[in-house]
Amino acid sequence: MTRIRVAVVAAVMLLASCGNPAAPASESGGPAADSAPRPEKAGVLNVYSARHYDSDKQMYKAFEAETGIHVRFRESGAPELLETMKAEGDSSPADVVISSDAGTLYRFEAAGLLQPFDSEALKAAIPEHFRQKDGYWYGFARRARVIAYDPARVSPDEVKTYADLAGPRFRGEVCMRSSTNIYNLSLMGELIGRLGHDAAQAWANGVVANFARPPQGGDTTQIEAIAAGECSVALTNHYYYVRMANGSPGDRAVAAKVALAFPQQDSWGTHVNVTGAGIAKNAPDRDNAARFLEWLATADGQGWLTKETREFPIVAGMEMPEGLDALPAFRQSDFPLDELGAHQAEAQEIYDRAGWN
Ligand code: FE2
Repeated sequence: MTRIRVAVVAAVMLLASCGNPAAPASESGGPAADSAPRPEKAGVLNVYSARHYDSDKQMYKAFEAETGIHVRFRESGAPELLETMKAEGDSSPADVVISSDAGTLYRFEAAGLLQPFDSEALKAAIPEHFRQKDGYWYGFARRARVIAYDPARVSPDEVKTYADLAGPRFRGEVCMRSSTNIYNLSLMGELIGRLGHDAAQAWANGVVANFARPPQGGDTTQIEAIAAGECSVALTNHYYYVRMANGSPGDRAVAAKVALAFPQQDSWGTHVNVTGAGIAKNAPDRDNAARFLEWLATADGQGWLTKETREFPIVAGMEMPEGLDALPAFRQSDFPLDELGAHQAEAQEIYDRAGWN
């Protein structure tokens, strides 16, 4: 009971950290609130999104301008959207679900809230390991889970693998967010898949033994703690750092004290996850949903989806958002994100046994 409550709270915090904290985490332009005139012919698309970015609103407008399909959207935390869709059942107005992390998309899929979409265009544009094998969801933007470190105290040679975080070099030096956070659960899912249960458990135990403080905050919190000298290494998704490095003078000053390392360059590559989308199980307009998903893989869709988030486009050859050119080219893992869901419960058990709250 406690675990479930903690998991939900942590997930809400995660999602708040994923977007603009000032933006209301409630519906906006949603089905009930919408009164704008709609084109009769092309119809309407209802999007349920766990993202909260102003650029997404511009993205919907761009799709509408190109297709004549009027977009209504509901933005909320992924757990709330999931519960909402369950409660709505057959009468849910949702056509499309957008959420970050394959682990979250798995939860919608496992709850029976998505339907398969067999798209030749998407299969051609999106690498196989970044999409669900039966088409229940597709990844549309990439994010790397990297090591943030203090370059004044740590040499790049000391942060070349995730295993480095569990070694004696960093005793009392590691900051982390909660293990209930989906980014950490998905990373653990890949470690379980690649290394096996026992080695994954040993890694978690080693990291916990190195904690500088109990897990707290979001990814940005860990970057700030490094800059403040509370710890010298942490895990973060790359875009939190990139946003700070291109943000307010205060954020830039923090980022200037922190460097990023892309782990596993000499082996299987850095853990990469996605922001993804799928067609809702009871989509009232499946054709419009399909059209929107395929549009997300076009240059326009990719641009709007990554512009403000500073994620990497998933389709090859697309223009990179501002600030990503400062990052090195890196080898990314090709672990099938579709398999992360199967490891999710085991990942949490491993973290719990390690005492990683
Ligand atoms: Fe995020």
